[in-house]
Amino acid sequence: MSNSAPQPRPGILEIAAYVPGESEVQGGAKPIKLSANETPLGPSPKAIAAYKAVAEHLDRYPDGASTALRNAIARHYGLDPARIVCGAGSDELLNLLAAAYLGPGDEAIYSRHGFLVYKIAILAHGATPVVAPETDLTADVDAILSCVSPRTRLVFIANPNNPTGTYLSFDEVKRLRAGLPADVLLVLDAAYAEYVRKNDYEAGIELVATTHNTVMTRTFSKIYGLASLRIGWAYCPTEIADALNRIRGPFNVSGPAIAAGIAALADQAWVQRAVEHNEVWLGRMTEALTAIGLGVTPSSANFLLLHFPKGNGKSAQAADTFLHQRRIILRRVEEYGLPDALRLTIGSDEENRAVLDALTSFMDVNGAAR
Ligand SMILES: Cc1ncc(COP(=O)(O)O)c(C=O)c1O
Repeated sequence: MSNSAPQPRPGILEIAAYVPGESEVQGGAKPIKLSANETPLGPSPKAIAAYKAVAEHLDRYPDGASTALRNAIARHYGLDPARIVCGAGSDELLNLLAAAYLGPGDEAIYSRHGFLVYKIAILAHGATPVVAPETDLTADVDAILSCVSPRTRLVFIANPNNPTGTYLSFDEVKRLRAGLPADVLLVLDAAYAEYVRKNDYEAGIELVATTHNTVMTRTFSKIYGLASLRIGWAYCPTEIADALNRIRGPFNVSGPAIAAGIAALADQAWVQRAVEHNEVWLGRMTEALTAIGLGVTPSSANFLLLHFPKGNGKSAQAADTFLHQRRIILRRVEEYGLPDALRLTIGSDEENRAVLDALTSFMDVNGAAR
C-alpha cells in the first residue's frame, strides 16, 4: 500500500479561504454585529411563518427545480421562469458559473476591490484571475476592457460592489458589455440591487434580456433577511441556464428556503421599510462619520467603507480593537487590499447610534482633530 495521500488539484492549496465577517466578541453578551451586511429588520414575519410550516415535512425532498420559487421571482420581476436558476445563496451560483465556463488556461477578470468570492471561484476551477485597477474605488470599464486577452472567458462585476459600496451606471455596464468579446460571459452580481436609489442604475435584467452572454445574480440574504437559509438566483440566457442546471446539485435549495423565499417576496411592504430605513441612515451616517474626520466612500448599498487616518493612533486596526472593547464588530477589509479601512453595515437605530458614539470617542482619543 502506498503512503502517499490524495492531493487536491494544483492551485487549490494556494487559495486563501473566504473569512466571513466576525460575529462574536469575547465574553458572552450579544455584540452589535455590523460586519456582514445583514438587514437590521430581520426577515418578514411571513417568511418566518412559511419556514416554520415546512418543519412538518422535513422528511420529503424539496422540488429540485425550485419551481414555485422561480415562478414567484418571475412574476415579481416580469421574467421568464425557465431562465431563472436558484442556488444555495448567490455564492453557489457564482461558483457554478465558474465551473461551467472556466478551466485551466482560461482567464477571468474582476476589479481591484471586487467581492472576494470571485477570486476563489476562479482559482478553484483552475483558471487565472486577472485584476483590473479601479478609479476612485469604483470599477473602471476601460481598465477592465484593457485586461481582456484571447484567454478571457468571464468578467465578474458586483454592482454595487462589496466592500466599496460604489456602483456602475447602466450606461457604463452597457459600454462594458459592448466592449467585451461576444464569447466572454459578463456576470453582474446584484446582491445589493434592492438598496440602490439611483436613476441611472439597472441591476442587469435588461441586459440579460437583450444579450446572449450576460448573467445577473441576486440574493435573498441581504434585504430579504434570509442569509441563514442560503437562497440566491441567477437570471440567464436559456443556454446558460441549461448549463447551470446540468451541474448544480439536484436539490440545491431546501424546502424551508423555497417556502420562506416565496413568502418574503410577497411581503414587499417589508422590503420597502428596509429600503427607507437604509436610505435615512446611509445619509445620516455618511454625514456624521465624515464630520468626525473619517473618509467615507459614497455608498449605494447597505454598508459604508470607512477610511481611517494612518498615523496618530487612529488606524483602522486601532479602531477595530477599540470597537471590540465596546462589543461592536465591523468588517476588516485587509484582504480586499484596504488595510486602512473598515466596512460598516447599516444597523438598527440603536446600533447606528452606538457605533457613531464609539467612533466619535475613538476619533477624539489622543486629541484627534474633528
Ligand atoms: C457582492 C456580493 N455578492 C454575493 C454575495 C453572496 O451572497 P449569498 O451567497 O448569501 O447570496 C455577497 C455576500 O456578502 C456579496 O456581498
